Amino acid sequence: MLVSGKELFKAAKKGGYAVGAFNLNNMEILQAIIEAAEEEKSPVFIQASQGGIKYAGIEYIAGMAKVAAEKATVPIALNLDHGTSFTQTVQCIRHGFSAVMIDGSQHPFEENIALTKKVIEVAHPNNVSVEAELGKIGGVEDDIVVDSEDATFTDPQEAAEFVDRTNVDALAIAIGTAHGVYHGEPKLDFERLKEIAAATDVPLVLHGASGISDEAILTAVPHGITKINIDTELRMAFAEAIKDVIAKNPKEIDPRKMLGPARENMKQVVKTKMRLFGSSGRA
Ligand code: G3H
Ligand code: ZN
Repeated sequence: MLVSGKELFKAAKKGGYAVGAFNLNNMEILQAIIEAAEEEKSPVFIQASQGGIKYAGIEYIAGMAKVAAEKATVPIALNLDHGTSFTQTVQCIRHGFSAVMIDGSQHPFEENIALTKKVIEVAHPNNVSVEAELGKIGGVEDDIVVDSEDATFTDPQEAAEFVDRTNVDALAIAIGTAHGVYHGEPKLDFERLKEIAAATDVPLVLHGASGISDEAILTAVPHGITKINIDTELRMAFAEAIKDVIAKNPKEIDPRKMLGPARENMKQVVKTKMRLFGSSGRA
């Protein structure tokens, strides 16, 4: 069933676990995520990035997600990932999204607050949750590129002020993760995470979580991380399965014989993450 992101954030915060948020770009990815959630009895965020919306079109994303959520027995929130403008968040709310992220992290503090508040004014009366971002997460996600020298960590006091002044439902923080594939071992600033969690009660979101060790995830979750975003590891599982099919049978022309194994491989990744994040069995 489709539920508001608010519901998932609240339950995760109360239960001390994190809900996975996985990016969908086509039907097979969506099915992989939903099947995993059903088998694990886990709540889940399915989300569309800028690139996903550009690729599939918002009508297809919203339409497919609606069908999937209606069929599912577990709670599912459909989220806009890294929303870039007020207009885009309104468009997503009109299309039935139950959660939106407004990423104002490239703006100065006051502008980020003003933009987030404007989105909340429309989202909350429609029972749609709002996630904002403070600090700048590095790396590449589709068209959004943040060079490592431009990435900035979240300041705990600013985070507390941001949450107080906006009443945002969740806050994406920068503590050393980055979007895309890591070159070298990422180092997370857990002290900063603890300080942020001590300064505010808001559910925290970890982006760029593909490639982060299980140990780091298990350290982060008890310190207020309630949503964990994974995209790159799904892409890798997808590509790996397709390359494998073609390597074994270069003459294969049936899309289903390529996309089917890709779907299965992604499903296993999602299930493993759900167990790691502690969301399995919480639906
Ligand atoms: O918003 C999406 C996620 O932060 C993607 O992170 O590239 O590490 O999978 P990832
Ligand atoms: Zn992200």
